Amino acid sequence: CGIVGYIGPREAYPILIAGLKRLEYRGYDSAGIALINDGGQLNVYKEKGKVSNLEAIASQRDTTGKIGIAHTRWATHGEPSAVNAHPHVSQSGRLALVHNGIIENYASLKEFLKGKGFTFKSSTDTEVLVQLIEFMQQEYGKDLEGAVVLALRRVVGAYAIAVIDKEFPDKIVVAKKSSPVAIGVGKDNGEFFFASDALPFADYTNKLIYLNDNEVALLKLGQDIEIRNLDNKEITHDIKEVDINLESLEKGGFDHFMLKEIYDQPRCISDCMRGRLLLKEKRIVLSTINLHRNELVNAGRFVIVACGTSWHAGLIGKQLIEQWAKIPVEVEYASEFRYRNPVILPGDVVIAISQSGETADTLAAFELAKKSGALCFGIVNAVGSSIARASDTGIYIHVGPEIGVASTKAFTGQVTVLTLFALALGHELGTIPQQEYEDTIEELGRIPGKIKTVLEKDSKIKDIARTLTYAENALYMGRGYNYPVALEGALKLKEISYIHAEGYPAAEMKHGPIALIDEDMPVVFVATHHQLYKKILSNIEEVKARNGRIIAIVTEGDEAVSDIAEATIEVPPTLAPLAPLLSVIPLQLTAYHVAVEKGLNVDQPRNLAKSVTVE
Ligand code: G6P
Repeated sequence: CGIVGYIGPREAYPILIAGLKRLEYRGYDSAGIALINDGGQLNVYKEKGKVSNLEAIASQRDTTGKIGIAHTRWATHGEPSAVNAHPHVSQSGRLALVHNGIIENYASLKEFLKGKGFTFKSSTDTEVLVQLIEFMQQEYGKDLEGAVVLALRRVVGAYAIAVIDKEFPDKIVVAKKSSPVAIGVGKDNGEFFFASDALPFADYTNKLIYLNDNEVALLKLGQDIEIRNLDNKEITHDIKEVDINLESLEKGGFDHFMLKEIYDQPRCISDCMRGRLLLKEKRIVLSTINLHRNELVNAGRFVIVACGTSWHAGLIGKQLIEQWAKIPVEVEYASEFRYRNPVILPGDVVIAISQSGETADTLAAFELAKKSGALCFGIVNAVGSSIARASDTGIYIHVGPEIGVASTKAFTGQVTVLTLFALALGHELGTIPQQEYEDTIEELGRIPGKIKTVLEKDSKIKDIARTLTYAENALYMGRGYNYPVALEGALKLKEISYIHAEGYPAAEMKHGPIALIDEDMPVVFVATHHQLYKKILSNIEEVKARNGRIIAIVTEGDEAVSDIAEATIEVPPTLAPLAPLLSVIPLQLTAYHVAVEKGLNVDQPRNLAKSVTVE
């Protein structure tokens, strides 16, 4: 979910609607807005579906007011509907609240409040919270901020919330625990913005305050921000100035953000390597980490925690680090790791990989690792995000905001950073031969150009993608460095085209998936020219023998696979460890074209969200 709010001299409605649109990547099951007009009336509008649906109804009504809060929802408790949409209003009609997160003890709080005469309209955990705040106001005669503190002391769970009270139209109370919120300080004194990230108000201010867990901020018109913790202790925060690249928030002539982001990859990878890959000196410089640091050079083991596409990047990272630094690496789903009493040994380094830097499971896994004494290393895209802030050390991927829900440029950015890190560490440890180190650096420098070459094949890829459009299932196979690429290709297809797809290490096929193969089963092989090429060729023969339909990603000039496959897409030759950076591109484009051909919403596929801040 995403939250946004404004208080200041301007009209709030246009700021909030534009802000919600920039937050839609966090969920689009429903959207809602609450405004207090100059007459002191609280107006709340909500609608199922996207922000444009909300706009259609709100624009017919009174949208005036210089204070407001808004929300775009990814449903957790309660189906997506207008009733369950935020903002939720308290029983007396005086308070409105938006919430991102989950209140875990909402059922017992609800029972308690029912006993006190409160009734509920929705089945959400959030409505319980707004009623609890009202109860605290009634019971203890507290001002809004005092009542929020009392209520939050009773709450178990995660939240970023904002509350307004029509009796006090000059203030918004914002609070945070485990879910992100950034507060923007306007140019005029006492003008405030807040949102789940800084994008919604980037046009107005780059002065930010990031609340910490268990903090409550009072944004009062014309006054300085006041922050306190749940023990009522006052806290001071520095105001940070952050540069936000707004160009990335536009489609720039492309039909979809996803396509733009796929095409952005040559530039993104160059940005990611800028100042880090020194081609003339044949050297890698990672200025944000200290490679001499004892915990890194003497690391006994790396444990990578991540979710989704970032987890796939982690699988490639494992191979890279083991190949060049000779240090063992484990790759874990963050959601499993955090609940498994994992063994964390002295000398472990835990790497969290996350585009958004906000994925709740990844953040929790990271925090667990930190408590156990591991060095926490973040590989993150969103600057200033929760995971970035929780890191002891780390490397930003610097590919700019990614808007399409299906991750593309963040994946190649993550793989690039992992490659740089593994090379640099191997060099530091002396575990990579100097020649291999230099050759790989030179080849990395050629990767953006080679990605461009792959993108030039787009119209052929589009034609080939038609094979998949009417399929109900598909298999993706790869080996070695291309095995995680097969997983990622399958994930892209299921995410945006809703075709059931599985990725497999090609040799495992004979232990199960081969039973699925018949003339209706497309099988996508990632079969570039590397040491396992001959092996995967045999796997392709096995599928051919069972009449499967074969699409293959091959190296330019390939003959053997091209003779057997129904269609092939060529990528330029490269070194095996860098193969994923090229071979994933046709798979991203394939998924994109299938989804477009099926008329689906590419950038906002059903049921998914870009940033999953609930577990
Ligand atoms: C969601 C997104 C995926 C992403 C995953 C992990 O599921 O839809 O694209 O890979 O979260 O997100 P993160 O921001 O931690 O990389």
